[in-house]
Amino acid sequence: MMPWINSFSCNWLRLCLHIFGILLLVEGNYILGLGHSNRDMAGIDGFSPQDESAIGEALDGVPGSAPEGGVGVDPASWSDYLNELFDPMFDSAVPENVTAVEGHMAHLVCRVNNLGTKTVSWIRHHDTHILTVGSFTYTSDDRFSTLHREGTNEWTLQIKQPIVRDSGLYECQVSTKPVRAYLVQLNIVVPLTVILHGPALHANEGGALNLTCVVAPSPATPEYIFWYHGGEVINYETDGRVSVRVKQENGRTISTLLVAKATLGHNGFYECEPSNAEKANITVHVVKAKPAAMQTSSSTLLQDALDPCLLLPALLFLYHLLMALPNLMT
Ligand SMILES: *[C@@H]1O[C@H](CO)[C@@H](O)[C@H](O)[C@H]1NC(C)=O
Ligand SMILES: *[C@@H]1O[C@H](CO)[C@@H](O)[C@H](O)[C@H]1NC(C)=O
Ligand SMILES: *[C@@H]1O[C@H](CO)[C@@H](O)[C@H](O)[C@H]1NC(C)=O
Repeated sequence: MMPWINSFSCNWLRLCLHIFGILLLVEGNYILGLGHSNRDMAGIDGFSPQDESAIGEALDGVPGSAPEGGVGVDPASWSDYLNELFDPMFDSAVPENVTAVEGHMAHLVCRVNNLGTKTVSWIRHHDTHILTVGSFTYTSDDRFSTLHREGTNEWTLQIKQPIVRDSGLYECQVSTKPVRAYLVQLNIVVPLTVILHGPALHANEGGALNLTCVVAPSPATPEYIFWYHGGEVINYETDGRVSVRVKQENGRTISTLLVAKATLGHNGFYECEPSNAEKANITVHVVKAKPAAMQTSSSTLLQDALDPCLLLPALLFLYHLLMALPNLMT
């Protein structure tokens, strides 16, 4: 979709060009293509810049542009004409792709400048179902409504309790002739919550305990993500041994619960509960630290080779091999 070029300076340029055009008009001149040469930029409908005669025809429709005479201009019609110069235009800076969570209020923003006496409607694109007209909800589905504050250029479609099936294109339409529309894609998603390395996690006593809860897809950071241990909410603001970090990346929310030095007291059932999704759980087993003498599993092959219990038989074997060597050679 081509966003209409819409800027303050552009409006003033158009106004100047048109006033210039009108002055020429009043003087009975016909340098009339001037004001409409930026049709594509300004989005004035009903003219074809390539077609000189069409421009002439259209301007014949403008009262006060009577080719002969040049006088007898009706000021009331002039204001109509001036109104037309300020055609409604969409602000193309508003998001065209909106992702919201199922069951949580969704908002589609539409900003229209120079609306004048025209009306803004919201239409569901796939079945051209009219949802709202101005501030009225037209559809019988009362989840839809328009938010508009008097004096602002914003007409926001609000959808309460959206479901996945509400996903699709929505049109913000302005009642110009022909109508103009700004298309917005709505995606309603259902986030899933997962605690990594579940359903059971083993941590060493005295070692770090790292619980990572991922909520995805999650278009925005949820209002809260609670962590529970044994059914009790963890208050990491008062419990100095626990810290929680939340980050938002690639449409996912990640909450990490960290315990620097795990104790047997950190054993048990943990849950992660975001405000925008179902909760997830994990069972933590803190493994009691073993006495140092029993930690044979950590020894390496080299250490094994240097073990005196193994070294002595190895040397003896080597000695016997060397002694037997001359016999083997003959
Ligand atoms: C819109 O956003 C969704 C979710 O972020 C993404 O998957 C999709 O590709 C986007 N579509 C367009 C047309 O940008
Ligand atoms: C915690 O675990 C996650 C996922 O395994 C990892 O990305 C993160 O770096 C870990 N954090 C720390 C502090 O170890
Ligand atoms: C823990 O999570 C699993 C998998 O989502 C679920 O089936 C189970 O009911 C949960 N346990 C409790 C006690 O909530």
